[in-house]
Amino acid sequence: MADNPMLLAVKDLGKSVPGPRLLFRTLDLDVAPGELVAIIGESGVGKSTLLNILAGLDEADAGRVVIDGIELGALDESARTRLRREKIGFVFQAFHILPYLTLVQNVALPLVLVSPDTGVAHARAQAMLKAVGLDGRSDGYARDLSGGELQRVAIARALVHRPALILADEPTGNLDPETAARVLSLFADAIREQGAAGVMVTHSAASAAIADRVLTLGLDGLVERRGR
Ligand SMILES: Nc1ncnc2c1ncn2[C@@H]1O[C@H](COP(=O)(O)OP(=O)(O)OP(=O)(O)O)[C@@H](O)[C@H]1O
Ligand SMILES: [Mg+2]
Repeated sequence: MADNPMLLAVKDLGKSVPGPRLLFRTLDLDVAPGELVAIIGESGVGKSTLLNILAGLDEADAGRVVIDGIELGALDESARTRLRREKIGFVFQAFHILPYLTLVQNVALPLVLVSPDTGVAHARAQAMLKAVGLDGRSDGYARDLSGGELQRVAIARALVHRPALILADEPTGNLDPETAARVLSLFADAIREQGAAGVMVTHSAASAAIADRVLTLGLDGLVERRGR
């Protein structure tokens, strides 16, 4: 496993949901360090479910997921939580910015969870907020932000602990095209510079265009789309 140069290696993944309804089977996905992959597909095909499985938040019925050489299925609940905290950054479809923390506290959270030095965590969180164009808002709260601003906070939080695997569910869904382009290039740059593996679900052609590969999710897994 240590020989596999892929940061994310997914093999023969299968998932059904109650109904029962098959979402996908025999799904394979390899993502190299510094690579950003976009996943597209109709509403309800299972894109968010797939990301949740990759993050260890949902379980597949078959197959395996290996993140930076570690097989998710071999871990117990607490080891899986630790892996998620240390190695994964997640931008959720609904941002999950905590309303009772300030923005800088929200962004610093992934660092605070793994290291006791809150001073360093907050300094890095401030830098991330600046990078997404929200410096000056650090001590504000989620209730005072627009949807697009919340999305930028969510992206800052997903990147702050330099995760090996960055998962994003519609990271620019609520942004105007100009802001979306800015946030997206920040997102793609961070993945390439940090040598992380990025998997982004999107409905937007503009977002997909920044990815190294575009894959369509269907019953038989992920199919690569070439050209436009
Ligand atoms: N725990 C569950 N129980 C029953 N059905 C579920 C469960 N989780 C997901 N589903 C169903 O699985 C399907 C896939 O859901 P998912 O959220 O992954 O779709 P999606 O591709 O992300 O869609 P969208 O583009 O609208 O976000 C949906 O039909 C959803 O209702
Ligand atoms: Mg979804």
